[in-house]
Amino acid sequence: MQDPFRTIEWKGDHIRLLDQTLLPREEKYLIIHEVSELCDAIKRLAIRGAPAIGVAAAMGIALGMLKASIADAEATRSFFDSTSSQIASTRPTAVNLFWALDRMKLIFEANCKKNLAELQKVLIQEAVSIESEDRRLCEHIGISGKDLFEDGDVILTHCNAGGLATAGYGTAIGVIRAAFEAGRKIQVVADETRPLNQGSRITAWELMKLGIPVTLITDNTAGAIMKAGEISKVIVGADRIAANGDTANKIGTYSVAVLAHRHGIPFYVAAPLSTIDMKLPSGELIPIEERDPIEVTHIGGTSIAPEGVPVRNIAFDVTPNELISGIVTEKGVAKKPFVKSLRAMFV
Ligand code: MRU
Repeated sequence: MQDPFRTIEWKGDHIRLLDQTLLPREEKYLIIHEVSELCDAIKRLAIRGAPAIGVAAAMGIALGMLKASIADAEATRSFFDSTSSQIASTRPTAVNLFWALDRMKLIFEANCKKNLAELQKVLIQEAVSIESEDRRLCEHIGISGKDLFEDGDVILTHCNAGGLATAGYGTAIGVIRAAFEAGRKIQVVADETRPLNQGSRITAWELMKLGIPVTLITDNTAGAIMKAGEISKVIVGADRIAANGDTANKIGTYSVAVLAHRHGIPFYVAAPLSTIDMKLPSGELIPIEERDPIEVTHIGGTSIAPEGVPVRNIAFDVTPNELISGIVTEKGVAKKPFVKSLRAMFV
């Protein structure tokens, strides 16, 4: 089944991406010619989801380097580095952004002695490969995880780890999708995911477009329906997974994991290896983004809180590895102890 949209695409000399802030009301593509516009799109979540942010970062480098002028090698290097730092400062938690920038840096170093036109060409090629690889990896994540789900399963997911959070197909939604495409009779329950409603605006929209049965709930409903025996499994995506399996994902994921544990429901994480940060021994070291209070105090421009009330708008939380039943990657399903099983995936 084809994705009913294209998350992000390189168009010769610019980037085209679906503006996710407008979904589901409007399907509008942004045309991006400047790195500053791309950074703004990442910061305001027009493009979002760890793997998709990685693709955007790589394309941002390619775009920025198209603006480099022919000067000496040192000037080109410092132009590359400042473009990379500008993109790196957009969002701190999803490690795919830094992974993609490192990968572009390696290509830069291997080709910086070539003339500028050649260098620009290989950087574009690398960014485009990161995009096409990501879609393929997601399909492999789907293949790895699809047998976790069986006929009759009702699967809860949080936030959006679908095609729009990746170059296509999705991670957690990719596993659901692969099981559905294999003929399993499954249903999804999507948490709305306050404050920015990626669950209601994006996950529910994607699943309906794919014809996968989905029911939308408020975040507060998860506990009640687990207690009532209505949820059989949980699967979520990840923004960064530490070497011990601790997983940063959208705020509220930790609460869902605790609830799943309380009710004996398996809790899975799905992500490509590019989301695993083997440099971090545990989740306490994952940088967590805090966002503008206005996302909590306002909905669609309308105030829903008294003016001046202090707000915490923490965008991600960390689920400790002991609450995770398995981590689904393109190389298979890692099981506890994750320190060992995740390390084995990089060999
Ligand atoms: O703030 P967002 O919308 O970028 O957060 C996205 C998530 O938390 C996703 O679950 C995660 O990036 C996995 S995407 C396959």
